[in-house]
Amino acid sequence: MNHDTPETPGLAALAEVLACPHCGGPLECTADHAHCPHCKRAFPAQDGILRLAAMDDPEPGIPAHQGPTRASYQQEYQHIAAAADYNTKYVRERLKRWSTRREVHLLNRLLASQPRSRILLELPCGGGRLSAALAVHADLLVEADVALGQVQYARDHARTPTSQLFLTASALRIPFRNAAVDGVVCVRLCHHLPHPAERERLVAELLRVARRFVILTFFDRHSLKNLLRRLRRPFNRKRPKYTMARADVRRIAARHGARLAACPALSWIGSGHRYALLLKP
Ligand SMILES: C[S@@+](CC[C@H](N)C(=O)[O-])C[C@H]1O[C@@H](n2cnc3c(N)ncnc32)[C@H](O)[C@@H]1O
Ligand SMILES: [Zn+2]
Repeated sequence: MNHDTPETPGLAALAEVLACPHCGGPLECTADHAHCPHCKRAFPAQDGILRLAAMDDPEPGIPAHQGPTRASYQQEYQHIAAAADYNTKYVRERLKRWSTRREVHLLNRLLASQPRSRILLELPCGGGRLSAALAVHADLLVEADVALGQVQYARDHARTPTSQLFLTASALRIPFRNAAVDGVVCVRLCHHLPHPAERERLVAELLRVARRFVILTFFDRHSLKNLLRRLRRPFNRKRPKYTMARADVRRIAARHGARLAACPALSWIGSGHRYALLLKP
């Protein structure tokens, strides 16, 4: 943990840009909670984390679906012990350390291609694996995840010299007004959403709150990794990955007013993930 960190700004710093995750109305913020005057819901802040996650949407059904659902995956890291297990793997395992280095490199490249952000939202932030790489490109980094355990882990282990604010939030109902932040970074969530309509809903929601850009990872249907997985499937019976093609991402972005400006692969062999940079006009 870096002890040389700035004072965490108060919730008031976000009052102008937050919105109720249930009704979309503006929120009123005090030092320790937010309140929606429209639908009368209250959102507490505890230990520096404002709880704005809304997770009550019914999930579309998936025929013959075998893996975690969107709803069950949202529960996976609610406790800090589960979050710690996820995050320490990225430190312990050599291939995961390599992957993080390459992801940091890609993020730096894509973020450096854009003007510096006043407010950058990382959603989901997980345990803050990428916080330091993002922080250098923003004046205020908002770290949010649906799982309280992950946000607690990030708050305790991923403090940066840039100001940070910590929230719980669902990426499918982001508690920000339209175009409220300069950019949104969404790493390794899309491929956990089993239903194609929800992957589109995610992209639309990220683009709604971003004023200028979204960086989003997806698992490339045409990657070598996915091809090998499909070939091995009759033997190992591993469930198919939730993939998208670059053309899908381009089309979805266009439907929501953005263009796909870059789409580098994390690795040609070892990973099927791509980092898409979506730009708004
Ligand atoms: C594979 S982790 C990636 C975390 C981080 N982006 C990283 O790359 O280290 C996926 C994260 O998505 C979070 N998550 C799951 N469903 C979510 C949702 N609907 N909205 C926001 N976060 C979600 C999980 O809690 C988990 O922390
Ligand atoms: Zn409301």
